[in-house]
Amino acid sequence: AQTCRINPSILSADFANLEAELARISNADAAHVDVMDNHFVPNLTLGLPVVERLQKVSPVPLDAHLMIAEVDRWAPAYADLGLSSVTFHVEASSAPIKLARELRARGAKAGMALRPATPIEPYLDILPELDMLLIMTVEPGFGGQSFLDVTVPKIRRARAAIQGADLDLAIQVDGGITEETITRAAEAGADVFVAGSSVYGKPSPADAIEALRAGGLL
Ligand code: DX5
Ligand code: ZN
Repeated sequence: AQTCRINPSILSADFANLEAELARISNADAAHVDVMDNHFVPNLTLGLPVVERLQKVSPVPLDAHLMIAEVDRWAPAYADLGLSSVTFHVEASSAPIKLARELRARGAKAGMALRPATPIEPYLDILPELDMLLIMTVEPGFGGQSFLDVTVPKIRRARAAIQGADLDLAIQVDGGITEETITRAAEAGADVFVAGSSVYGKPSPADAIEALRAGGLL
């Protein structure tokens, strides 16, 4: 059976109370931290000094999703904080192989993200350099958007390529994941699920995590 990991996105949490918001998701597999710079995406969230503090107080490992333009310059510093995984967008990197190796050398799992319209095929040879592939299921930048079904065939093709090459690579999906869409993504081959509004938008984020887990298990 396929595994199912739930990484709630703190983008939908109360930014004035992040320590308490992390405590509410202590049954999660990791906390997903969306870093946005208002250049790669039209939104701005938080950066290194805040993530450094979150790493110190979080009851679960941190999974950083860097939606920033100058990712070759900044991503290694996130790995140096001791985060569990650091994911960069391939559209923003001029040297993705070098960057993935730098992240791993610093002890972080290396993740590479694709926007919804970015195909997987040009990057198949890079997969052995990675621990995780993030397939965006909405346009990055904002929480609360609807799952883009058009991305499901890409999840399927990525899973087939990973299996064909006998690689140990997680496929993370991010955007519009609900109790309903999670099953579609899981059936296509995703095994790590980011959910913002469908966790923090519920009265009990911990219960919401368990409900998603049930939907993501095949
Ligand atoms: C969007 C972020 C997501 C966001 C998902 O750019 O990368 O992590 O928090 O939010 P939901 O789950 O509400 O679509
Ligand atoms: Zn994200």
